[in-house]
Amino acid sequence: MCGIVGIVGVANTVPRIGEALHRLEYRGYDSSGIAVLKDGNIERRRAVGKISALDQKLADNPLSGLIGIGHTRWATHGEPVEVNAHPHMAGDNVAIVHNGIIENYASIKAELMDKGHVFEGETDTEVVAHLIKENLQSGLVAREAVSATLRRIEGAFALAILINDGSEKLYAARRGSPLVVGLGQGENYLGSDAIALASLTNKVIYLEEGDWAELTRDKVVLFDSSDNEVNRPVAYSQVSNTFADKGNYRHFMQKEIFEQPYILAQTLGKYFDQTTGQVTLPDVTVDFDKVSKITIIACGTSYYAGLVAKLWLEKFARVPVEVDIASEFRYRDPVYMDGGLAVFISQSGETADTLAALRHAKAAGQHILSIVNVEESSMTRESDMVFPIYAGPEIGVASTKAFTCQLVVLAALSLAVAKARGQIDAAAVKTAIDGLLEMPGLISKILQDHGKIDQLARSIAKARDILFVGRGVYAPIAMEGALKLKELSYIHAEAYAAGELKHGPIALIDEHVPVIGLAPENDLFDKTVSNLQEIMARQGRVVLISNQGAEAVDAGKNSIAAFAMPKVDDLVGPIAYAVPVQLLAYYAAVEKGTDADQPRNLAKSVTVE
Ligand code: M6R
Repeated sequence: MCGIVGIVGVANTVPRIGEALHRLEYRGYDSSGIAVLKDGNIERRRAVGKISALDQKLADNPLSGLIGIGHTRWATHGEPVEVNAHPHMAGDNVAIVHNGIIENYASIKAELMDKGHVFEGETDTEVVAHLIKENLQSGLVAREAVSATLRRIEGAFALAILINDGSEKLYAARRGSPLVVGLGQGENYLGSDAIALASLTNKVIYLEEGDWAELTRDKVVLFDSSDNEVNRPVAYSQVSNTFADKGNYRHFMQKEIFEQPYILAQTLGKYFDQTTGQVTLPDVTVDFDKVSKITIIACGTSYYAGLVAKLWLEKFARVPVEVDIASEFRYRDPVYMDGGLAVFISQSGETADTLAALRHAKAAGQHILSIVNVEESSMTRESDMVFPIYAGPEIGVASTKAFTCQLVVLAALSLAVAKARGQIDAAAVKTAIDGLLEMPGLISKILQDHGKIDQLARSIAKARDILFVGRGVYAPIAMEGALKLKELSYIHAEAYAAGELKHGPIALIDEHVPVIGLAPENDLFDKTVSNLQEIMARQGRVVLISNQGAEAVDAGKNSIAAFAMPKVDDLVGPIAYAVPVQLLAYYAAVEKGTDADQPRNLAKSVTVE
C-alpha cells in the first residue's frame, strides 16, 4: 500500500528518495511521485505504473533539491492516473504525500471550493494540501497551519508536508497509519516504515498515535495530539540495507515457496528443542492454564492460519477458541471473557484492521499476543507478547512462507497451551515435536515434484471457476488455495468444507469446473472421498491431493488427476498441504502470464481499512 519518504538534506535528495521508493515497491502501488524544494520553488514529477516510469520521467526532465518528499500510491479515492498521484500541491507553496484515508474530505472540499480553491484530481488527500494553504492564507505560520489542519481532518493518515515559506522544514503527522522519523548526520528523514529508510539511517523514532513532527536538518521537534512538545524513544532499526534479490528464481514468490524447507527449519529451531522435547516460546506474560478463552484475529491468509490454530487449540488444549476476520471483529460487539487471550496474526504487523482490533482487545483488558513476521511493526510495539515467525522478508504480495511459518508458531502455541493446561503429557509433546522437525525434509520432497504441479496448473489454467474442498484442518488450507489462485491467476476460485458442497455449491459442478480435493489419509478421509465421488458423479473434474492414489477415489468410470503427498499427521499436514496449493497458484499465474509478484489491485501491507 502507499509508501512515504521525506528528506531534509544537505545533498540532492532526488536519487535517495527514488532509491527509497524502490524499497517500498514491495507494498504494492499504482503510481508514484517526488516533490522537492529548489531555489525557492517546489517542483514535482509524477508517473503512473511502475517506479521505472518515474525514473524515466526524471531522466527526461531531471529534478534536484535539498528537501523533498516522495510517495508510492495505492489508489483508494480516484483512479490511478497522474493527477491523482502524490505529491499533491495547493498553489506553489504546499506539497504533501499521504497514506490512509481522510474520511471527512468531501465536506472540507465543498467548503474550500466555495472559497475558490480549485482541485486537480479526485483524491481525498488533495483537501489536506488546500486546507494548509487556506490556513496559511488566514495568517497562520507553517507550524500553526499544520496543527490547525490536523485538528480539522478525520480518518487514518500518515502525512509528509513540504511548505515553501523559506524555513526549509518538513512536517509529518501520524494518526492510524505508521510513520517513522529517521535521524541522520546533519539530515533528517521520514519513512512509512524503517525499510524505506534502510539506506539512509538505522536510528529511528516511531511516531506514536496522534503525534506530529517538525523536521529541520539538525533538529526534530515532536508534538502529541494536544500539541504538547514530547520526547519519544530513539530505536536502532535492524532492517537490512541490502535489497532482497530473487537469486536464480524468476519471481520472488517462487523463491519464497522454494526456500520454505530452510526457512521452516529455522523457525522450528526457534520454537522447539528436540533434545529436551520442549516447546521454547519467547517471553510469555500470561498463565496459559488460567486463560478463559482465546480470540484469534487476522485478515486474509493470516486468518486462515488462525482457523487451523483454532482446531489445534481445541483438540490439544481443550480451550474455547473464536477466530474472526479483523475488519468484522472491530465493528461488532465482541464478548470478551476476563482473563482472555487475544492473538493477532499478521505478516506485516501493520494491517490497519488487525491493528485496530488489537487496540480494541487491549482496551478491553485482554492479554495481547501478536504473531508477526516484521518485528519492527506497530503490532509488535503495542502487544504484551510477541512471537516472531522468522520467515525473513516476504516480497511477493501473495503470502507463502509467512503462512507456513505462522502455522509452525501456532503449533508451538497450541502444544504449549495444551501442556500448561495438563491436556497432554511431555511424551506426547516430544512425539509431536519429532514429527514437526521432520517436516522440512517432507516439504523438500514435495517441492522436488513441482513439475507435476506445473502440469496440473496448465490443465486447469483455462477454467473460469475452480473449487477447493477439504475437511477439518484441511478446510482452511482449501480456503488458502482458493485465495492464492484467485489473487495470482485471476481465476475465480472458492473453497468449501467438503461436506458443505451438497448444501448449495454442488449446483455449480459440471465438466468445466475443476475441483481440487485435499484428502490426506486421516479419520475424515472416507468422508472426503464420498464428497469427491459426489462431485465426479456430476462430471466434476477432480484433482486429488493426497497420500492415497487416484484409485482411492475413482471408481473406474472417471479419470482424475492426482498429486502424491507423503503421509502426515494433522499437525504437520496443514503446513505440508499448503505447499502444493501455493505451487498450483504460482504455476497457474505463470501459465496465464499474470504478475506473480505484484498481482493487480493488491498491496502487501494493507494500511487502510
Ligand atoms: O500482513 P498481514 O498478514 O496482516 O496481511 C493480511 C492479508 O492482507 C494477507 O494475508 C493477504 O491476504 C495476502 N495477499 C494473501 O496472499
